[in-house]
Amino acid sequence: TTTDVAIVGAGPAGLMLAHLLQRAGIDSVAIDLRGREEIENTHRAGILEQDSVRLLVESGVSERVLRDGYRHAGIDLAFGGGGHRIDFEALVGASVQLYPQTDVFIDLADARERDGGDVRFGVSEVSVADLTGDRPSMRFTDADGVRHEVAARILVGADGSRSICRHEFPESLRRQFFREYPFAWFGILCEAPPSSEELIYSHSERGFALISQRTETLQRMYFQCDPAEDVTAWSDERIWEELQARVGANGYALKEGPITSKVVLPFRSFVQEPMRHGNLVLAGDAAHTVPPTGAKGLNLALADVRVLAEELELHLRGDEVALDRYAERALQRVWKAQHFSYWMTTMLHRLPEASDFDVRRQVGELTSLVTSAAGSTYLAEGYTGWPS
Ligand code: DHB
Repeated sequence: TTTDVAIVGAGPAGLMLAHLLQRAGIDSVAIDLRGREEIENTHRAGILEQDSVRLLVESGVSERVLRDGYRHAGIDLAFGGGGHRIDFEALVGASVQLYPQTDVFIDLADARERDGGDVRFGVSEVSVADLTGDRPSMRFTDADGVRHEVAARILVGADGSRSICRHEFPESLRRQFFREYPFAWFGILCEAPPSSEELIYSHSERGFALISQRTETLQRMYFQCDPAEDVTAWSDERIWEELQARVGANGYALKEGPITSKVVLPFRSFVQEPMRHGNLVLAGDAAHTVPPTGAKGLNLALADVRVLAEELELHLRGDEVALDRYAERALQRVWKAQHFSYWMTTMLHRLPEASDFDVRRQVGELTSLVTSAAGSTYLAEGYTGWPS
């Protein structure tokens, strides 16, 4: 088979790219090691920036994001015994949308099916070849055990945080930037009514907690934990006690219910530069990972492929600097988001060795943020998303 663009990875980044390319008359084949059901059942982020919502709606992927999602015009920052609302609407005239990544994926996969897109889930033995020659290709075994080679003009690695494509960049030509954190998130789904209309980001002496939502009957919550935490050591009762203690310190109370999912989510910051080598370009988590606190991961992936679709179109028409321009444009946003996610994380979490000074200093930082129009506006701009 031959195609214009071969895409390794059929998560939100790969599928959105395939969709945008098709609208520009460019063919693609996308593959993924995971089955469709497996991706649909992996719970991930929940918050879409304003421009991510616009992209999904205006490109014809989803109207459901407006119908089934919930518009949030602000968040609560909870610390020092009380809550403080950051009013995005008033500060920057923008809002975000609560709409789970699993639904974004379902809408994208449905749109590919509707439009006759070539997407193969559940493949194995994936490799890419001839990255710098004129016959780049992607090889894989499909779900029925049949071996395939797809020759393309460009290969895209949208294969997530465990990317195989990023390892194809010669070590001498790539740099990897890392930061580890000495904590993780314990995430739960529970059957209960919402405890709050908007998200609560809660700082406390016992550590961070995030109260999010899904529907009128299903809620998502997280609390800071040790990266090696064993979920089986946490009964529902113990989880509720910990969550209530953390938000209770700031005057909130949670509505409890049966917990249907418990998972420990690792934290890390990562960037690989450059994002292009020969005929291979990276997009989304394959090139960068952010800690979840700023809700930036999915949004960053969508921002990458919006720019990549534009530049790929120019590249395929003969613009020789288009792919490097993609890498440059994408990395500018990536590093802004890296900073924003790092900043939200370090402002709100308790370090294992934190002194009383450290905790009081964080409260000082949060207080200066919520009492300053400049500070609150900075947070609102970053959270709702910078213009492209
Ligand atoms: C959710 C996840 C996040 O990482 C975040 O910052 C906000 C919300 C969520 O799953 O709802």
